[in-house]
Amino acid sequence: MNLLTLVQAAVVSVTLFSQESLAFPQHVPLAGLAEHEVQSMTPMLKAVIPPSPPGPLKFDGLKLVDDSKHPWMPLKRGDLRGPCPGLNTLASHGYLPRNGVATPSQIITAVQEGFNMENKLAQLTTYFAMIGDGNLITDLVSIGAKTPLTGMDPPPPAIVGGMHNHGTFEGDASLIRGDAFFGDNHSFNQTLFDQFKEFSQKYGNGFYNLTVAAELRFHRIQQGVATNPQFSFFGLRHLTAYAEATFPASLFVDGRKQGRDVGQLDMKSAESFFKDMRFPKGFHRSSSPVVIAGLGDLFAAHPFMPGKNNGTHVDSFVVDDSLGSLLDVCSIYTGFVSSTVRTLYPNPTGVLRRNLELNLQFLFEGLSNFGCNQIFL
Ligand code: HEM
Repeated sequence: MNLLTLVQAAVVSVTLFSQESLAFPQHVPLAGLAEHEVQSMTPMLKAVIPPSPPGPLKFDGLKLVDDSKHPWMPLKRGDLRGPCPGLNTLASHGYLPRNGVATPSQIITAVQEGFNMENKLAQLTTYFAMIGDGNLITDLVSIGAKTPLTGMDPPPPAIVGGMHNHGTFEGDASLIRGDAFFGDNHSFNQTLFDQFKEFSQKYGNGFYNLTVAAELRFHRIQQGVATNPQFSFFGLRHLTAYAEATFPASLFVDGRKQGRDVGQLDMKSAESFFKDMRFPKGFHRSSSPVVIAGLGDLFAAHPFMPGKNNGTHVDSFVVDDSLGSLLDVCSIYTGFVSSTVRTLYPNPTGVLRRNLELNLQFLFEGLSNFGCNQIFL
């Protein structure tokens, strides 16, 4: 089912269950809807003016983050978790709302507090996800999967969630999650985690590091091309796939590590984050704000340009960089705004337009280190 079909299912359920407006999830994305559909949903949404995103941390040094104020808790019924092991962990420790639905400001604060992700990187990543997968009217996005509307008899059609939507931020060739084509793009995948461990053994002596990342990133791309006729590695995904492959070696490694241990993730800690969505016991965040390091080296080890299979045949990959490539981050931004956003929001009006413009402004400010030209709606 594609994004549009899923969102249409959400609209059907609104029509069928409009008397239950209070139960209507406020994070359901508006992307892909026609103007009249947005208008039919708007009365059920609590509109807000999105605030400016938070700035850098006041104290941005080493800190125990697996602390008594943020105990890990198992999932409760209805809690949402998705394809990002970092956000899942933050929600399970209460740095994010434990139900998995958050504002962009809460996400930026949480990734800084919990992992010491650098402020502009946090801002850029968050607004790419918010614009693609969030509800711009209510300023809420789900880090996860489907949300059933509760308390209704008969149960309504499934409601689409947030960051597990395929093709906006989430994409193919993830390290530990399967491709959407195979049916589940957001759950922990044991077979892929076993492969992660094998590669870490072979190329990193039992640790995940940037050398392992370069090999595994390339291998997952090759697996996708060879097994998934709909394999897509295109636009924003070209950047996020390489960037995310660096995160376990930087953000998941305890900040107390020194010397040769820096950038080396052991498998027990990897399992704790990826599978249990939990900080390893006594985990300390990085001792300084983390930017994406080693992206160029990862790409240079096995340069692979953006593109896709033809939709019906494996091994039919054709290069297509019309939505940009990681070789020029501004080209990804330009492709995202001028093509993806305009397709997702063909004719935004009223509050939706105002909030989309504000979110695009915050996205652009996240790119301030790159000197890109701003694109407007
Ligand atoms: C700043 C806000 C963030 C957002 C909006 C975000 C969102 C996402 C999404 C949507 C994915 C799925 C992409 C895919 O593989 O298809 C993802 C993957 C990933 N994220 Fe995050 N993320 C954020 C921060 C973080 C942080 C702080 C960490 C680490 C501490 C992290 C670690 C990862 C990793 C390792 C993956 C790849 C998982 C895999 O390939 O199986 N992310 N993220």
